[in-house]
Amino acid sequence: MGSPVSAMWDQWNEHQGPSAPNEHVLTFVRRNFTLPVAPGTWAFDLGCGSGADARFLMECGFNVTGVDTSAVALANTQALVADMEPTLHVQQSSLSHCELPAKTYACAISVGALDAAGVDEARIAVPRLVDALKPGGKAILVFAADGDSRIAESPELELHGFTRREVESLIVLEYGLSAWIDSCTTTFQSGVTRQIDWIVTIAKR
Ligand SMILES: C[S@@+](CC[C@H](N)C(=O)[O-])C[C@H]1O[C@@H](n2cnc3c(N)ncnc32)[C@H](O)[C@@H]1O
Repeated sequence: MGSPVSAMWDQWNEHQGPSAPNEHVLTFVRRNFTLPVAPGTWAFDLGCGSGADARFLMECGFNVTGVDTSAVALANTQALVADMEPTLHVQQSSLSHCELPAKTYACAISVGALDAAGVDEARIAVPRLVDALKPGGKAILVFAADGDSRIAESPELELHGFTRREVESLIVLEYGLSAWIDSCTTTFQSGVTRQIDWIVTIAKR
């Protein structure tokens, strides 16, 4: 917090937070959970930004923990759900230092945050995310791959595009854990912008 790059994320949240939930998160949650979920079911969003996904999770019935380093992001998230039952908890923290109680969460999501945090932090954050899932819990992680044009377009954000090998290094496949590494390429403006996302899904038995 307080670094030039975190000031950039504050600015990003002032101007660019998406107004709709991420499409991979929408599909993942609708396919993997019976909605609405039972009262008292918890989800967390690592790098929640301005809260579009957190609001969607709350609309699905989850209590939500939203984590972000940006105070602007967390204020926007709180404002976005101000008309809902107050089941949002926010933590101003980095992905690697946030406090997530073990075996507590049925669902975890992270969109566009591991690439912001970089490989070293992601190697700490992902095992912690897995620990926080309860048995039967599921997670989806969406983040940029190498070759994604957003990395060169926004150098001030210092995004890291992950190689497959780096993605594989995030997950220790212990007993009871399954993980799938997929990718999705979307082009915009007739291919001028080429968004290449890793879509990592994790299930804990
Ligand atoms: C591209 S935005 C994505 C926000 C949101 N998940 C979405 O899809 O709209 C990345 C978010 O990650 C946050 N962020 C960047 N580095 C972080 C870190 N090391 N730990 C926690 N959050 C971080 C930024 O403040 C920003 O809100």
